[in-house]
Amino acid sequence: TLLPSIGAISNLYDFEYLASHILSKQAWAYYSSAADDEVSLRENHSAYHRIFFKPKVLVDVSEIDLSTEFFGQKSDAPFYATAAALGKLGNPAEGEKDITRGVGQGSTKVPQMVSTLASCSIDEVMGARVSENQPIWFQLYVNSDRKITNDLVKHVEELGVKALFVTVDAPALGHREKDEKVKFSANQKESTNMLKEAKVDADADGASRALSKFIDPSLSWKDIIELKKLTKLPIIIKGVQRSEDVIKAAEIGCQGVVISNHGGRQLDFSRAPIEVLAESKPELEKRNLDKNFDIFIDGGVRRGTDILKALCLGAKGVGLGRPFIYANSCYGAAGVQRAVDILREELEMSMRLLGVTSVKDLNEDLLDLSALKYR
Ligand code: FNR
Repeated sequence: TLLPSIGAISNLYDFEYLASHILSKQAWAYYSSAADDEVSLRENHSAYHRIFFKPKVLVDVSEIDLSTEFFGQKSDAPFYATAAALGKLGNPAEGEKDITRGVGQGSTKVPQMVSTLASCSIDEVMGARVSENQPIWFQLYVNSDRKITNDLVKHVEELGVKALFVTVDAPALGHREKDEKVKFSANQKESTNMLKEAKVDADADGASRALSKFIDPSLSWKDIIELKKLTKLPIIIKGVQRSEDVIKAAEIGCQGVVISNHGGRQLDFSRAPIEVLAESKPELEKRNLDKNFDIFIDGGVRRGTDILKALCLGAKGVGLGRPFIYANSCYGAAGVQRAVDILREELEMSMRLLGVTSVKDLNEDLLDLSALKYR
């Protein structure tokens, strides 16, 4: 297929449009699908449209600083490529390694969260880093064979990943009908070695169904406490969807949560993460639990202004899933780098127009939240 030159890509939607035309039927079904009627999928994004800005004028905005720190490590911008399985469905040769290369470029370095069920092993991803100080995080799916999980945690800690994101929103698999129509085989070359390691019989109707057999549905809070004993890595709970659970995670000593509904792929009609963030942050502050505890958010983020809104509401970092998957599938590392650059440019410009020069100066006073449900 003839793709336009990368300079012709003006926003993240362009990657999605191109991906919908060039991806295999299987890749498109797996990447784009969400649960049931895909209401949460759409709501994740459209909820951002209920928030407006209250810009400050006559501020010197000639210099904008997008940099931040995650777990004591510098990042050039406050967003990251979040975990996604099966990168080789869209980029058969390089899979997730091209995301690593794309987000690790000198002036644009941002973190990558690598899935337990990535096509490439975490060792391969670490080997693809552009520089040693490039931040890589690991997303953990817990297997019912705890030895597999414990060995994996020890291994990624030794490899030098900087944080462990434990996904908790997938004890059962959301019903993704598009995906279920395409057969998946664990032996396909795009598959992941974790299925074999866990001896999962994973030929199934749909890639999602195959992967979900890896995940232990009995996972509970006490397993998180056990995990804390096993590793010194910061533990962040990914997939939290109510303020009570945000508070619980802080109380048991986790380093953070990702407010997320798995990109609308799990429980349809779960609320938009930005709404849950608006609800949770004040509850956390009220209880003085917001020190040494970070809230991340993902789902439906497509513009610099989306990122800006989440940061104003107190998010430490903002994750994007499908946009990076599509950029990687269409253009490999160059596409991923372009996606990072677009987001940086959009975020920088919006901050200028908002009248704020540094990420740390963003706060809720800059937003009009009157159309938001939980305020
Ligand atoms: C995901 N997501 C995900 N999450 C996770 O913890 N482990 C995983 O292996 C995957 N795999 C995965 C594959 C694909 C194709 C998608 C689209 C998503 C969820 C992901 O980390 C994130 O929560 C959402 O993708 C965020 O929504 P957006 O940015 O895709 O709208």
